[in-house]
Amino acid sequence: MASNTHSVISPAILYWGTPVVLITSQNEDGTSNIAPMSSAFWLGHSCVLGLDATSKTTENLLRTKECVLNLPSDTMVAAVNELAGTTGSNPVSASKASRDYKFVKDKWTKAQLSPQPSDFVQPSRIAECPVQMECQFLQVTNLRPDLPDRCGLVLAIEVRVLRIHIDDELRMEGYANRVDPDKWHPLIMSFQEFYGLKECQGWTHGSRKKTIALNLDGPWKKREEEKQTDPSLGLVVSQKRNIEDSRKATLQGCQEMTMMH
Ligand SMILES: Cc1cc2nc3c(=O)[nH]c(=O)nc-3n(C[C@H](O)[C@H](O)[C@H](O)COP(=O)(O)O)c2cc1C
Repeated sequence: MASNTHSVISPAILYWGTPVVLITSQNEDGTSNIAPMSSAFWLGHSCVLGLDATSKTTENLLRTKECVLNLPSDTMVAAVNELAGTTGSNPVSASKASRDYKFVKDKWTKAQLSPQPSDFVQPSRIAECPVQMECQFLQVTNLRPDLPDRCGLVLAIEVRVLRIHIDDELRMEGYANRVDPDKWHPLIMSFQEFYGLKECQGWTHGSRKKTIALNLDGPWKKREEEKQTDPSLGLVVSQKRNIEDSRKATLQGCQEMTMMH
């Protein structure tokens, strides 16, 4: 039986450990801004971002309705730290100035990162990040409606993931649409310190690896095989040709959804 070793604590922040995301967004002059953040969670193909309302990223995202969520690997601490303490907002807000934040116009050069064009959205992807997700704004909510003096300082912004680009090294062998978690090493922020993940500690319900290890072929196995032999999945050229149509349909869908909120 577990001994009673718990006591009450009230830390200033509740950063229990989440992957770092480098958000790229488009500035008014057509250049891309980069900002590190880590208050993000994914559900299906939605992502909810917890963002400071005064950040340049927030301003850009609410104006352009687009961003790219780039996930750095655990080897990219130096680049993230070059971006830490910087903002694309000029002038720097009083709150950030009091925390010694500096305005940096070209964060790509500062962090030695390289832009790559996106397919569906204007902001560039970060070539060095093994995972890059092109996203469309869906809705925004003010956090802390219970505190009139804090309400709206931080926003929960839901975006829809339109297209995912992944370094081929991270793919699960033999599957068209699976990521191998053994090969993916996200950079985790926990209480403002950086960590990598430890080795796999076990499997959960639905794990592909568990399925393979137990040699239990569920009905999804067949669907997966069918997907792999579907020739349309390999036709990159025809996908590219349809990008403009898809982009228009996506933008229209998002505008309709935004109007509903
Ligand atoms: C590792 C890391 C994680 C961060 N997480 C968040 C976050 O989740 N939400 C947020 O609003 N700011 C977060 N920040 C602070 C932003 O990076 C900061 O507000 C920055 O000025 C945003 O840049 P921008 O003003 O150019 O958009 C984080 C910073 C670092 C270094």
